[in-house]
Amino acid sequence: MYQDLNGKVAVITGGSKGIGTAISERLGKEKMKVVVNYHSDEAGANQAVEAVKAAGGDGIAVQANVGSEEGVQKLVDVALSEYGTLDLWINNAGMENQCETHKLPLEDWERVINVNLTGVFLGTKAALSYFVENNKKGNIINISSVHEQIPWPTFAHYSASKGGVKLLTETVAMEYANRNIRVNNIGPGAIKTPINAEKFADPEQLQTTKETIPMQRIGNPEEVAAAAAWLASDEASYVTGITLFVDGGMTLYPAFQGGKG
Ligand code: BGC
Repeated sequence: MYQDLNGKVAVITGGSKGIGTAISERLGKEKMKVVVNYHSDEAGANQAVEAVKAAGGDGIAVQANVGSEEGVQKLVDVALSEYGTLDLWINNAGMENQCETHKLPLEDWERVINVNLTGVFLGTKAALSYFVENNKKGNIINISSVHEQIPWPTFAHYSASKGGVKLLTETVAMEYANRNIRVNNIGPGAIKTPINAEKFADPEQLQTTKETIPMQRIGNPEEVAAAAAWLASDEASYVTGITLFVDGGMTLYPAFQGGKG
């Protein structure tokens, strides 16, 4: 637990499932007040808010499209009207679909880039504006992926969006470092979430995925949430512009395990 987070106010995008819900709940345990954004899964967002409250924090579910300026502004407005301030912004909303690149419809490309990259830009911009205009210490965490570093065939749009998030994070971290604003990335690997439910339900695909993970197991959303809580806290006060991979070693070139090569 991080004492300094007690009573602070967070916005998290895409909080209605998976990693977003786990982070919300963890922030609840830290006694934070959490604006839990969702796009279409209202029931999931309400459950996340219940989990935040049960854990000891406060929360509210808010529908918004993070790929639009009005959407992210609504999240800032709710944080201010409900809780009076904003301390932490977590860009978590993301989506993926598989398709060979020569067949990838432009609409799929645009949809994924809009949520995963433009959404991170817009959320970052909205949070920065509030922090700068109010001369306030601020913290931004982006949920990226191991695929900001590892190329992922048949997921060109997803990989491109995450590569973009990496350099966006580094650039903004540098730009605002002297204003008491920290900006970091978390790069989850294969995590047990709804986005992966189908894939990991198939024993063969599960085995194939495990072979890419030196620790040979799928991660839990709570393990990503623990990294988010640390980055959010003052324990990470000298950390900005990094990607903290939470991936069981997936980014370590597992094909070379055992001295192969
Ligand atoms: C994706 C997962 C995938 C993992 C490892 C994540 O970014 O969302 O679907 O299993 O990367 O490849």
